[in-house]
Amino acid sequence: MEKVKVSIVGGSGYTGGELIRLLLFHPYVEVVEVTSESYTGKFVYKIHPNLRKSTTLKFISASELQPCDLLFLCLPHNSSQNQIDRFKNLAPRIIDLSADFRLKSESEYEKWYGHKHARPELLNEFIYGIPELHREEMKNAKYISSAGCNATASILGLYPLYKNGLVDEERTVIEVKAGSSEGGNKVNEGSHHPERAGVVRSYMPTQHRHTAEILQELSFGKKINVHFSATAIDIVRGLLATCHVFLKKDLQEKEIWKIYREAYGNEPFIRIVKESEGIYRYPEPKLLSGTNYCDIGFKKDEFSNRLVVISAIDNLMKGAAGQALQAFNLMYGFDEKTGLEFPGLHPI
Ligand SMILES: NC(=O)c1ccc[n+]([C@@H]2O[C@H](COP(=O)([O-])OP(=O)(O)OC[C@H]3O[C@@H](n4cnc5c(N)ncnc54)[C@H](OP(=O)(O)O)[C@@H]3O)[C@@H](O)[C@H]2O)c1
Repeated sequence: MEKVKVSIVGGSGYTGGELIRLLLFHPYVEVVEVTSESYTGKFVYKIHPNLRKSTTLKFISASELQPCDLLFLCLPHNSSQNQIDRFKNLAPRIIDLSADFRLKSESEYEKWYGHKHARPELLNEFIYGIPELHREEMKNAKYISSAGCNATASILGLYPLYKNGLVDEERTVIEVKAGSSEGGNKVNEGSHHPERAGVVRSYMPTQHRHTAEILQELSFGKKINVHFSATAIDIVRGLLATCHVFLKKDLQEKEIWKIYREAYGNEPFIRIVKESEGIYRYPEPKLLSGTNYCDIGFKKDEFSNRLVVISAIDNLMKGAAGQALQAFNLMYGFDEKTGLEFPGLHPI
């Protein structure tokens, strides 16, 4: 079989590095070019030292890109939308990992991102990138926009409940605890080690932009609300979304189990984690490092109608590169698990 020729734009960053790691070992892919403006001419393994002996590719400038079958865009926010025509001319298929094409509504984009979208007419050309929700659309897609990492964990955790109309649609509260790699590889004052190490820093108690994606994907045509907060904690990879929802009717835990099993029983990358004993009774991001799994657990409050849903992912994998590769596999008709079947490490 002829391999799919892919190139990665913004390959010196964290999501780009993870994509290269995955794609180099994908049996049906050839990584043709990887771009970086800061490291043009340097070996990829110099920036991603985990890839020593895995590749002899060198970074090129994005201005030198040659046509290929598919482009992965791993650029900072507001970069893809300003260069999208050029990228479209280079490749018939694109998977964008940034937030540029996640929202369908131009007005919602402006509301949450605070500026006008450069190419609003293209928003509807991109399929929102969570495979568990949009698998069929992905099979014929030309353009996919990978979901935000916090949004991915939150949406996957809550999707079965919202789809079945089981929760009070105005009162959901989501608290995400996130690791430092979520912020990308550019240093800033807050990422300086003495300032970042050991923190439990409430960095976005309200107005987090991923809220818009969660609303878009969970609304099912209704007016809904979710109240989202994000806290930076002292881990590098991984995030945990603790979602508080209020059930419309009194469901027993057995019934909730059934609802999640029906939604996700056949999903290769979703695991329901709810043990009655041991130390890993609920999802734990530490165990998911490097994997494409989303682990979801729940506990019903015995004294109220609150249900706590706990969802964990590796932000760089199921929240970015892994999710993008799963979508890629669907686009090309490959088994969606191809290149993603790493079970994780324990202990780690
Ligand atoms: N980190 C996560 O957990 C995560 C999860 C899901 C989605 N995302 C999204 O994926 C995209 C990439 O994220 P990332 O974490 O990989 O970011 P990153 O580590 O900061 O990497 C972005 C890369 O883009 C290149 N770049 C090109 N134009 C740039 C510009 N104008 N300013 C800064 N860098 C520029 C940089 O490489 P050169 O300077 O070498 O060209 C940089 O290495 C972002 O849009 C992010 O929101 C991130």
